[in-house]
Amino acid sequence: MGFSTGIRTLVLLTCVGAAFLAVVTHAAYAATFNENYVTGADAKHTQVLDGGNVVNLVLDQFLAPEFGSKGLYLFGAIGMNIKLVPGDSAGTVTAYYLSSGGTHHDELDFEFLGNVSGQPYTLQTNVFAHGVGGREQRVNLWFDPTENYHSYSVRWTREIIIFFVDDTPIRVFRNNENLGVPFLNAQPVGIYASLWDGSAWATQGGRYPINWAAGPFVASFQGFGVDGCEVAGGNIAYCAAGPANAWWNAGQYQYLTQQQIAALKNVQSNYLVYDYCTDRVRYPNEPAECFKNWYG
Ligand SMILES: *[C@@H]1O[C@H](CO)[C@@H](O)[C@H](O)[C@H]1NC(C)=O
Repeated sequence: MGFSTGIRTLVLLTCVGAAFLAVVTHAAYAATFNENYVTGADAKHTQVLDGGNVVNLVLDQFLAPEFGSKGLYLFGAIGMNIKLVPGDSAGTVTAYYLSSGGTHHDELDFEFLGNVSGQPYTLQTNVFAHGVGGREQRVNLWFDPTENYHSYSVRWTREIIIFFVDDTPIRVFRNNENLGVPFLNAQPVGIYASLWDGSAWATQGGRYPINWAAGPFVASFQGFGVDGCEVAGGNIAYCAAGPANAWWNAGQYQYLTQQQIAALKNVQSNYLVYDYCTDRVRYPNEPAECFKNWYG
């Protein structure tokens, strides 16, 4: 299965007897886990399988495992294919995120909040720019994310950040520096995945803590190639300048297509369950960037 399926899709209509639709994705080069990632966890909690094409994170009472990229990246189309903890996943949080670390860190988050059996997963995304986050959005997924791998990715350029679930854009965060909103464009990030106990807040506001009897909890990952600008030898300037040979810098990738706008509107009207932009208890005034990122 292609990596970062949401990123750049060529739809080819092919006729072989009957017409069918083949989706050819812009795939990052194939890479095994060990080529691009490392883990501090032991082999029981981070299982590298199938020659490094699949990794299972295994959460139990003793360890919340994680792994991270060897390289640091600034801009790109970065994502992974993930199959989430099945069954009673209440209290568990599977996280896939890009983070610079440091005191004024930049970070893009996908956090998958588990649920009791039969109830839907919630995907929370967040954006930290120069240490300031508090930009949570939550959507309920429109499929069972425990049954198959799905791609979760960002297209991150100097102009725009788009969060994708498979081919569907679920969120946009534009470069709004002209409104005084910091953007993620100066700090390279590592790519991380983790599986942890978020009992205190994750499931229905903490009503359902983790049920250890249902464990150990397993989330699976694929797609370890990285289609991003790797910051080599601390040379941030090359990536920060947005080199012309990086496809995501082309003009057309700074915008959503009409189809993508329609898909995003559909998510915003049917699957969005929380948006910091409309939370007047936390933000009596709408945050400055919100009206630029909304398509409803
Ligand atoms: C869990 O399921 C409940 C009931 O369907 C739903 O209200 C909630 O949004 C789901 N997600 C979380 C994280 O609690």
